[in-house]
Amino acid sequence: MLPGPTNVPERVTRAMVTPSINHRSDDFVDLYEECVDNTKKIFETDGDAVCLSASGTGAVECSVVNLVKKDDKVIIPVNGEFSSRLAQQIEWAGGQAIKIETEPGINATFDQVKEAFDNNKDVKAFYCVWNETSTGTMINYLDRIKDLTSRNDSYYVLDGVSIVGGEELHMDKWGIDIHTPFTPALPVLYAYREAMRIMLEEGMENRIQRHRICSDALYSGLSAIGLSPFADENSRSTVVIALNYLDGLEDKIFRDTLSQKFRILVAGGFGNLKGKVFRVGCMGEVHRYHVMRCISGIASTLAMMGYDTDAQAGLKVAEEKLKPLDSL
Ligand SMILES: Cc1ncc(COP(=O)(O)O)c(C=O)c1O
Repeated sequence: MLPGPTNVPERVTRAMVTPSINHRSDDFVDLYEECVDNTKKIFETDGDAVCLSASGTGAVECSVVNLVKKDDKVIIPVNGEFSSRLAQQIEWAGGQAIKIETEPGINATFDQVKEAFDNNKDVKAFYCVWNETSTGTMINYLDRIKDLTSRNDSYYVLDGVSIVGGEELHMDKWGIDIHTPFTPALPVLYAYREAMRIMLEEGMENRIQRHRICSDALYSGLSAIGLSPFADENSRSTVVIALNYLDGLEDKIFRDTLSQKFRILVAGGFGNLKGKVFRVGCMGEVHRYHVMRCISGIASTLAMMGYDTDAQAGLKVAEEKLKPLDSL
C-alpha cells in the first residue's frame, strides 16, 4: 500500500519481459502508436502526447527546461516536498518562481492563485503539483485555472505523476498544455501499453469512482480505529492517505511491524514530517481486499504496540463505505 511504486498488476510485470524488437520497425510503430493513442484517451486530449522512457522526475524536468527561460515568471503553489522541488527546478532553469506557499496539509485557495495572476499579468506559466504525494493533498479546482491562464496568455502545466488514472482529468476541457522528445526503452513501453489496456478495460469512470470509494473507506476506517488524517478536509487526496502518528508511536517500529507481521508496506513522512505522519497509497491496484486488510493490519499493529484500538469499528465503517463498489 505504498503511494509509489503502487501495486503493479502481474500483467504489467510480465509485459516487461517481452522480447525486444527493432525500434525502427513497423512493430515498434504499432507499439508506440497504441501508447500514444491510449495516453490521449486517458488524458482526454487531442494534442500531441510523448511517452518518455524516463521517471516522473525526468518528465517534470523535461517540461521545465523546454518551457522556462531566463527571467520567465512562473506561478506555483508550494506546500510540500514535490512542489518545493518543482519550484527549485524552475529557479535552476533561470525562471522566477512566484510561490504561493501554504502549510503542508493545506492547499492554496483558488482566490490566492487568482490574486497571483492579477498581480503578474506577464506570467509565462502556471505550474502545479496536482497531488502533493508527500502530504496527501490534492488540488481540486483544476477546471477553474483555464480562465486565468487564457486571460494572462500563459501555459498551464500539471505534475500528475502520482495521480493520473486515479482521479478525473480532462486535459483539453481544462485547458492544460505540455510535451517533449526521447529514446525508447522497449520494456517500459510494453509495460506502459499493458497498464493502459488494463485502465481502459476497467473504464475511466469506474476506475475513478473506485479510487474515491476506497479512499473514503480508508479515511473513515482508519479514523474509526483512532488515527487522524493529516490533510485538511478540503485539501485531502483520494490517492494518498496521510495520517498523523499517535503520541509516542515510533515510525520505524510501527512500519517494520506492519511489514514483518502483516506484509503491508506504507510510507513514512518527508522532511519536517518525518516521524510525524505515515502515508497509505490508494492508487491503482487497490480494491476491497486491500482496504480491509490494510485497516485490520494497522489496527493489529497498533494493538501490538500497546494502543487501545477498535479494529471492528474500523472494519465495519469501511465495509459500509465500500458497498458502492458492488454497483461499478
Ligand atoms: C507528485 C510527484 N512528482 C514527481 C515525482 C517524481 O517521480 P519519479 O520518482 O518517478 O521520478 C513523484 C514521485 O513520487 C511525485 O509523487
